[in-house]
Amino acid sequence: MSIPSLDDEELVKELDSKDMLGITAQYPEQWEEAIQRAKKTPNLCDASEVEHVIICGMGGSGASGDLARVILEAEMEVPIIVSKGYHLPKFVSNRTLVFVVSHSGTTEETLSCFEQALEKKSKIVIITSGRELATRAFSLNIPVIEIPGHLQARASIGFLFMPLIVTLMQLGMISNRPDELSEVLQVLRDMAKKLAFPQPTCKNPAKQLAIDLYGKIPIIYGSEGITGIAALRWKCEFNESSKIPAFWNILPELDHNEIVGWQLADRFDVEFALVNLREPCDYSRNIRRMNITTSLIGNKFKISREIWAEGTSRFARLASLIHMGDFTARYLALLYGVDPTPVDIIWHLKARLGEGE
Ligand code: PA5
Repeated sequence: MSIPSLDDEELVKELDSKDMLGITAQYPEQWEEAIQRAKKTPNLCDASEVEHVIICGMGGSGASGDLARVILEAEMEVPIIVSKGYHLPKFVSNRTLVFVVSHSGTTEETLSCFEQALEKKSKIVIITSGRELATRAFSLNIPVIEIPGHLQARASIGFLFMPLIVTLMQLGMISNRPDELSEVLQVLRDMAKKLAFPQPTCKNPAKQLAIDLYGKIPIIYGSEGITGIAALRWKCEFNESSKIPAFWNILPELDHNEIVGWQLADRFDVEFALVNLREPCDYSRNIRRMNITTSLIGNKFKISREIWAEGTSRFARLASLIHMGDFTARYLALLYGVDPTPVDIIWHLKARLGEGE
């Protein structure tokens, strides 16, 4: 199969209408700006009154909650939960801190949770670029972290995710971690240098992986913890940026069901590519599981690749996996001849949902 060169500037000019690759290369600046913005949030609640934290959001916005949860849940004294749907759990009360995260500020599921949080008199923090939602929140004296609106939700991952961490730090619900945040930014800078478009394919692991994945359905596996949640992000990126089907799963659970499903995979006229996301601090039993699982089912895949997280802290390693996945999916879009930015069908669907209301 002949595919275009990922070093061809004309290809990028022709397909990447909103400079998604440039935006990805600017993650270090974005994440840094996000930290600074969030530090300025006024009117935060009294943390001693908070018994649970819940992060509401869908798609690219909800992803911020997944990332925050996986980084923080081992440290927080109170449960931290991500809610992706119309309804808040029954336990939510005036002692719950509810983050309402919506890039556009118009997502109906997230707005529905916002209304329920208001009814329950929860402590609320809003993260959005949406004027209407922000104005309503201001009028109710609810803290709002405003983010720029010109990027796609998934390309604003730093703007959506970092405020969760910084706000919980400001509240004293997690420890201050300036060194860790510096490392996150440094790792993103290192990744951007290595993976951005000017770096030719022969030296660029994201371009190389995109080429390897071309024509195949990516199956991304990680383990409970940061590699598992990164696997979900990779899958969503292949869907939204590359516009292809992709699937993810997580160890140890997949060893109890999905592993069997590969038995008859050869009967389907499709090529699968296995991408195992790994980090040295994955739990030892899961490291062993991933090795054994790959040895048992690896022959069902046209190719199988391992991507190792980079950095010292878990936080930095998670950021490195996100950056690698985002670059790879966006290069893969170019190989398929599509613009990585638009997600027209999502907006079409939202418009249809709104019809006749
Ligand atoms: O990537 C996308 O555009 C979607 O996944 C959106 O993030 C999702 O539909 C939710 O919209 P919003 O982030 O504006 O709340």
